Amino acid sequence: MNPLPPVITSKKEMATWSESKRSLGLTVGFVPTMGALHQGHLALVELAARKSDIVVVSIFVNPAQFGPSEDYESYPRTLTTDLEALASHSVAVVFAPNAAEMYEDRLTTIHVSGITEPLCGASRPGHFDGVTTVVAKLLNIVRPHLAVFGEKDYQQLATVRKMVKDLDMDCLIVGAPTVREPDGLAMSSRNTYLSPLERAQAPVIRRALLQAQELAGTNTPEQVERMTRETITRGGGRVDYCSCLNALTLSAVTDFSSPVVLATTVFFGKTRLIDNIVINEKT
Ligand code: PAJ
Repeated sequence: MNPLPPVITSKKEMATWSESKRSLGLTVGFVPTMGALHQGHLALVELAARKSDIVVVSIFVNPAQFGPSEDYESYPRTLTTDLEALASHSVAVVFAPNAAEMYEDRLTTIHVSGITEPLCGASRPGHFDGVTTVVAKLLNIVRPHLAVFGEKDYQQLATVRKMVKDLDMDCLIVGAPTVREPDGLAMSSRNTYLSPLERAQAPVIRRALLQAQELAGTNTPEQVERMTRETITRGGGRVDYCSCLNALTLSAVTDFSSPVVLATTVFFGKTRLIDNIVINEKT
């Protein structure tokens, strides 16, 4: 077995470590995570490794992005198995601070407007402020040349890109395709919450999104949203939102003439799963 990657818990030590690599002329790739790692996370690590000399992974369950009635306390924390999973991927170091180390007496919040308002922004107030604040802090501490984020969290990726551009942060943001189970369900740390019945039902999300792609040729975005909702509801899911939006700006659309993201969040029992598909994507 490969040795486990070293773990750094202090911000100062992480910054010094990174600076020492940068000063050697090495490029640093970064994958921020909340742990409970699965193949989706590992695909991000592999992409970062292909695009940079060394890879840093952070594992931090970020309290600032969870609402008061959300799953912060119960979110799976599996550091030892995460390190074992990372051992077979070329990861130079894992940054795993605790909440006190990350936040101390913080008074500053990063807020990206507009793009954070629909979808998860509407159903999880304050969520994206928590994401952008922690990502900005992590980028400042790790100082990577590039950072990889999954397209599964489409609005998160778009929001981080906008923050980095607006704040002139010197880091390339790379998007990585969604990794799925063989039945199409997007891999997620929250899939472990699903009962066997819910797990059997959940792939309806992917089937409904693929069907939507077909329907887009002959229907309006509103009709496609309605039919997608119906398919998911019939399959046992409770749809939180299911919306067609401009794939770049996340503003409302009335047709499919430019790339459109159809993004959905669906509850199976208490478990909240998200997925999306881009329709008319320019390749
Ligand atoms: P987490 O949910 O752990 O996800 C970490 C990264 O893995 C994110 O960029 C997410 O989009 C990506 N990811 C998750 N499931 C994936 C899948 N099935 N295929 C491809 N990529 C996938 O997202 C977060 O953590 C946090 O919000 C974070 C950015 C770390 C800030 O706290």
